[in-house]
Amino acid sequence: MGLPAHTSTPLQLPAGPCLRGRVRVPGDKSISHRALLFGAIAEGDTCIEGLLPAEDPLSTAACLRAMGVTVSEIRAGETVTVQGVGLDGFREPTAVLECGNSGTTMRLMLGLLAGRVGRHFVLSGDASLRGRPMGRVAAPLAQMGAQIHGRSDGNLAPLAVQGQPLRGTTIHTPVASAQVKSAILLAGLTAAGATTVIEPAQSRDHSERMLRAFGAQLEVGGPGLTQVTLTPGHGLRGQTVVVPGDISSAAFWLVAAAITPGSELTVENVGLNPSRTGILEVLEQMGARISVHSRRDVAGEPVGDLQVQHGPLQAFEIGGELIPRLVDEIPVLAVAACAAEGTSRIRDAAELRVKETDRLAVMARQLGTMGARLEEFEDGMAIGGGGELRGAEVDSETDHRVAMSLAVAAGIARGRTTLHRPEAAAVSYPGFWDDLRRLSS
Ligand code: S3P
Repeated sequence: MGLPAHTSTPLQLPAGPCLRGRVRVPGDKSISHRALLFGAIAEGDTCIEGLLPAEDPLSTAACLRAMGVTVSEIRAGETVTVQGVGLDGFREPTAVLECGNSGTTMRLMLGLLAGRVGRHFVLSGDASLRGRPMGRVAAPLAQMGAQIHGRSDGNLAPLAVQGQPLRGTTIHTPVASAQVKSAILLAGLTAAGATTVIEPAQSRDHSERMLRAFGAQLEVGGPGLTQVTLTPGHGLRGQTVVVPGDISSAAFWLVAAAITPGSELTVENVGLNPSRTGILEVLEQMGARISVHSRRDVAGEPVGDLQVQHGPLQAFEIGGELIPRLVDEIPVLAVAACAAEGTSRIRDAAELRVKETDRLAVMARQLGTMGARLEEFEDGMAIGGGGELRGAEVDSETDHRVAMSLAVAAGIARGRTTLHRPEAAAVSYPGFWDDLRRLSS
């Protein structure tokens, strides 16, 4: 949701508590959105276990309800039921579809709505979302026949969609983005003919896995699994979806335990889809004491428990095809870099500039306030490790992943940190502050 500037209570974060015990992070955000959306366009009911009860998936559920889909109340620990209306069952909403802070809601919804012939939809969101590029979805959808209009030549919300008959085509996307890929595939479900998406590098593949489980016909191939073809004409059937814990939320605990002396944590039930595990590879590269236990498969997604202990860390270098596999973990990796020996380098990460905030600029600014030695580049940053961070007044700048990353940084700083706008964390991890208190005691 849109966060008002500085009207919330700042949070005092004491330095130095070690983190010990076990934690179960909430459900994966990407999988939660998809389970709601695919359940809505399937025939029959979809039961979702472990759905993330946070602001972003609530935005998706609210949009679906506004189009006549029955979604049961979303409460922590309870199974959510979606009564599917079928591929073409959405009612035209009588008000704006509010996507809140959620880029995934808006982009996947654009793909889903573009082919609803004869219906009109308007999508908007909070100030952050209204500033994020939507042309990357609107342009390929236009190639399929979609009519999407918005500010800045259709790049910025509010966006109006006039449902049109779509045609399948082959689309080369300039950036590796699962949101763009998924939007095109969803539009392809009702297009005439097959739709192929070719990405420059593989992005997370939750849509492909789940669409297949719901009965869609999809083929994945190409070098590095960068090519997906969807053939329409196969209706989706409601399923039971079990959502694993979100590795992007687990990342805060993994880094916190790895950098804070005396820490030892087990993070349970974490999704380990290979298109998301770049963070584990970097922590291994750094020499972190981390191990995976009880590897298992749950409803088409690999899952395991992660154990992590404090230890000495080396600097890392990341770039290229690894970036899409850890794109949301870069803010907390910047914190890890502050605690490592040597200079870490992040490259090819210009995408961070168009996330919920410009995460390169925001992390450079906020960690800089804490005394970090870093240099920001157009597509990344260099961070000198080994120095001490000092407690300071910092601000999430309304970004959930920044809020939680700064909490991790506060743990290794000398002196107390005051974090402004901590409530941003509720976008993806509403229980974060409670878990932090419990694990620190
Ligand atoms: C997401 C994909 C990523 C990620 C976002 C969630 C998804 O964005 O940053 O938090 O659920 O598909 P891009 O696909 O734009 O890289």
